[in-house]
Amino acid sequence: MNMPQHAAPIAATFDLAKIRNDFPILREAVRGGRLAYLDNGATTQKPESVLYALDDYYRHKNANVHRAVHDLAERATTAYEAARDRIAAFFNASREEIVFTRGTTEAINLVAYSFLQPRLQAGDEILVTGMEHHSNIVPWQLIAARSGAHVVPAPVTDAGELDLDAWRALLNTRTKLVAVMQVSNTLGTINPVAEMIVEAHARGIPVLVDGAQAIAHLSVDVKNLDADFYVCSAHKAYGPTGFGMLYAKRAYLEAMQPWHGGGDMIRTVSFEGSTWNDVPYKFEAGTPDISGAIGFAAALDYIATIGLPAIAAHEHRLLEEGTQRLQNIKGLRVIGTAPGKAAILSFVMDCAHPQDIGTILDQEGVAVRAGHHCTMPLMQRFGIPATVRASMAVYNDSEDLEQLERALVKVGRLFG
Ligand code: ALA
Repeated sequence: MNMPQHAAPIAATFDLAKIRNDFPILREAVRGGRLAYLDNGATTQKPESVLYALDDYYRHKNANVHRAVHDLAERATTAYEAARDRIAAFFNASREEIVFTRGTTEAINLVAYSFLQPRLQAGDEILVTGMEHHSNIVPWQLIAARSGAHVVPAPVTDAGELDLDAWRALLNTRTKLVAVMQVSNTLGTINPVAEMIVEAHARGIPVLVDGAQAIAHLSVDVKNLDADFYVCSAHKAYGPTGFGMLYAKRAYLEAMQPWHGGGDMIRTVSFEGSTWNDVPYKFEAGTPDISGAIGFAAALDYIATIGLPAIAAHEHRLLEEGTQRLQNIKGLRVIGTAPGKAAILSFVMDCAHPQDIGTILDQEGVAVRAGHHCTMPLMQRFGIPATVRASMAVYNDSEDLEQLERALVKVGRLFG
């Protein structure tokens, strides 16, 4: 089956109308009207090329991978491993360094249990930041509790930036890992991860970067960054849900013990003992999410065709326009004002609770997230229970922002 016309790769120039047309769900009526989808921090919508890749896999290639010699098994294995090559190339990694997981959360847990736990002793520290997502806090707490280690948060400034001097002062001989999000899902703050990696490495401390909110917005070159571990999810970058990856330097993967046991991760099994497959397969027990890998590769191809610099420039324009529009709303306060931040607008209003604002916005066709955004410590830092978050992606336009502003005026009328 040939790729249909509508799923063809998009043009190299930035053509917003064409990009919007690539996402069929944007034409979906919600609450009887136009959809303004501004919940991209939670998950992005999927372009035709990704939908096509998933459909094509199940129609023409579906079989298990690495197991059989029949034609479909060969097609599935070839497509799955080609996806690994494309994903590795996108991040400038080697294919052996890309472990497929169910997402960012599972990738962090893999590093926690397989890499860090065997190395932790009582009194050791895992240095995170006060803006981390729960998935970059709780796995470390779970393993710290087993060994008497501690999770130490570096403070966040009033603008929502990491206090880099305070972070630096917290690095010490007990620090066994630095874990940091590249882009804050709640604030949009972009953390200086390259600088942090240099500083941590100068003290011999490995670094895990949570790229969940970064990869659809910033160019990531893991070799250049020199990250020891880099984790991300497909679904926040126009790919399918339930799929993600761990990049890890090969030497770490070779030294780490498997986490999940099962099929495909073994070389030999006997009741006397088992031996492990080569990396990355040593960490990929069981039948993998084959279509997930294929869909993620198609999503990264989609991003690459538009180009991350063009995407970032468009999203920056949206952020500027959105910020101006929010200034027109009485009693609205933006939470997170770091310079150069990603296109995320988190805010509170004097007149209404974020959940109520979210409900009114939904009635007006505006999809946002209202809540703590899985960052409860950050909410505590700002002394608020929740925010409303409008998070932007490549297909958002001025009309979305106008719709958001109109809906917020309505909130003011109803609750003000
Ligand atoms: N981590 C996702 C968010 O920020 C779910 O909404």
